Amino acid sequence: VNLLDKRLAIVTGKGGVGRSTISAALALILAGRGKRVLVCEVNARERVAPLFGAKPSGHQATEVRPGIFTVNVTPPEAMREYGVMVLHSRTLYRVVFENRLVASFLRAIPSLAELVMLGKILHEVRVEEAPGKPRWDAVIVDAPATGHAVQLLRVPQALLEAVPPGPLRRDAGWMDELLRDPTRTGIAIVAVPEEMPVSEAIDLDGQLRALRLPLTDLLLNAMPERRFNPDEGGILARRRADSAPVGPAAAIAHLQALRAAEAGRYGQRLREAISLPAVEIPFLAAERWDQRAVGQVAAALER
Ligand SMILES: Nc1ncnc2c1ncn2[C@@H]1O[C@H](COP(=O)(O)OP(=O)(O)OP(=O)(O)O)[C@@H](O)[C@H]1O
Ligand SMILES: [Mg+2]
Repeated sequence: VNLLDKRLAIVTGKGGVGRSTISAALALILAGRGKRVLVCEVNARERVAPLFGAKPSGHQATEVRPGIFTVNVTPPEAMREYGVMVLHSRTLYRVVFENRLVASFLRAIPSLAELVMLGKILHEVRVEEAPGKPRWDAVIVDAPATGHAVQLLRVPQALLEAVPPGPLRRDAGWMDELLRDPTRTGIAIVAVPEEMPVSEAIDLDGQLRALRLPLTDLLLNAMPERRFNPDEGGILARRRADSAPVGPAAAIAHLQALRAAEAGRYGQRLREAISLPAVEIPFLAAERWDQRAVGQVAAALER
């Protein structure tokens, strides 16, 4: 997975396809290599810390496992940090930004929430503990689903096109440079082998390409195992009507074979439409979706 070599790794795809799990699994792999990793969720109902059996971190980066920190980036908190950074004073921030009139004016600016959240995330990539020593070896972004991810990632370019020279434009400039730098940044598209996630992934690929963002990986999640070859599939189909126990067992196995074949076709469609190296993650049957499942996804990603 190319994403593992980047300072900034962005995981996106349709809702529910496994972005949070994969973000957690990538963090697990990197932490296993001795790296210090921050996973950013973007204005989400926090999922990553609980996946590691920890309580939600909120807006303060919190270590949930050795080497793995998580944070939930939300607009009000990111706005406060951004405001304080610009004004160099918390008091000034309160006077200016928390003024009711100013606050309602700011809320009305489209993409302001995205700008401050993205600014906060990208700031984490650049921030140094000491000269030459970045705070994080890697920042993983559990990005919002398709449309919202594009909205988030296009903010710097939109600002560069719209805003006159000044501090806002300077911020947009370094943000755009970092986001588009293929040596530091990588974006993975996650899909599961079903109609909607597949067509959304193809759309998303097109939109991110149009923004000239550095796509690195296509992650095919929850792929059913191929247990039977086509000949065996044929035999199973014929023996569905046999008497128990062979018949019912053959019927179930035949269903699995059909599902795997269908998933294979979706995988093929994705590979043809999206020219990125593809990695398959198997469908994992887990009673509870927890740390163990994350570990299994990590193992699959490393294979
Ligand atoms: N490889 C897999 N095998 C089986 N089930 C999986 C797999 N990956 C994810 N799932 C299932 O999908 C659910 C959603 O996963 P996850 O929360 O990581 O997705 P998400 O894309 O972050 O969703 P959301 O849009 O809600 O943020 C998991 O709780 C799990 O049940
Ligand atoms: Mg999620």
